[in-house]
Amino acid sequence: MDTRRNFIKKSAIMGAALCLPISLTRESQAAYPDLKTRAPKKALILWYSQTGLTHRYTRLIGCILKGKNFTVDEIELQETNKKTLPDYDLIIIGTPVFYYDIPSNVSEWLETIPSIKGTPVAAFVSFGGPEGNQHNASCHILKLLANKGGVPVGRDAFRNIPTYPTPKWNSANQISGQHLPNAATFDQVRRFTADMLERITRGETVSVEYELAMREGLRALPLVWMNKKAISKHTVDSQKCIGCGTCVRKCPTKAIDPFKQFVDREKCLACFGCLNNCPADAVVMEYRGERLYGFPEYLKRNKITIMEPPEFSTCG
Ligand SMILES: Cc1cc2nc3c(=O)[nH]c(=O)nc-3n(C[C@H](O)[C@H](O)[C@H](O)COP(=O)(O)O)c2cc1C
Ligand code: SF4
Ligand code: SF4
Repeated sequence: MDTRRNFIKKSAIMGAALCLPISLTRESQAAYPDLKTRAPKKALILWYSQTGLTHRYTRLIGCILKGKNFTVDEIELQETNKKTLPDYDLIIIGTPVFYYDIPSNVSEWLETIPSIKGTPVAAFVSFGGPEGNQHNASCHILKLLANKGGVPVGRDAFRNIPTYPTPKWNSANQISGQHLPNAATFDQVRRFTADMLERITRGETVSVEYELAMREGLRALPLVWMNKKAISKHTVDSQKCIGCGTCVRKCPTKAIDPFKQFVDREKCLACFGCLNNCPADAVVMEYRGERLYGFPEYLKRNKITIMEPPEFSTCG
């Protein structure tokens, strides 16, 4: 039988293997079309955000670009008319990492956009923990955009509170990330924006090379299916529900009907968007028999106010 010391040693090795990227293969630098402009002025910022963390960064990027006399459209991904994408001379996309990748509704959306040949494109993800596969997730967005002729000019990942609900919201990453984003995160966003603009001026691209890490293997597992199996209860408490419709709006697959207290488990992506946005704590979810509560309730119980960048007070 393992001694406690051996067990700790093995766990540490396993943990390191999961966290450290092992570059086993390298992709050759892709050939991209020529940039359609080195002086863009009309930017589209697309965002998908379940609990507002990603959206905060797209707003900040929007403020910075407006300060540089860009015309900026900031639109939630699902609300965007795909046909308008070729009209922009810069496209930026932000999304959270879910299950070690970008959410499947985001990748499906990006697979069906029209040609954006020569348009500079930049992508970022917001993520919850250092082992979250954030690098590859951001590369995934750029690869999908490059498939449509986009030219990658920026990529980054910004760390936050992990919004994956655990019964007590006390996973190691939830504790260590509790005060994120902070001023350093917003500086990172400003650098991402400035570097992206400089790269465009110089006609340079950014690498979209995947890291081959063991966590990349986790992406291949049916994680959503496994999580749905573990969700032992998923319904709506009619006594608490105030009929605000937020859960319906946030559900990417329209799987929830709060008025019938019904969740279509086939359609559900286990994104926890309904639970994490309900203002009345009326979405009832149990994980292996343990009751979960959502992000607003977590912030309330822990008296957490998420920091806003100073730009918001001036840019509207
Ligand atoms: C269903 C779900 C799955 C998640 N999976 C991951 C993950 O694989 N890796 C990671 O780093 N963070 C993960 N997170 C944390 C989020 O990526 C992170 O908190 C993000 O900033 C949330 O952004 P949003 O507020 O814009 O939705 C997950 C969160 C949820 C709700
Ligand atoms: S019903 Fe499922 S897919 Fe819809 S928001 Fe809730 S967890 Fe996400
Ligand atoms: S978000 Fe909550 S309160 Fe609002 S309709 Fe859905 S279950 Fe009811």
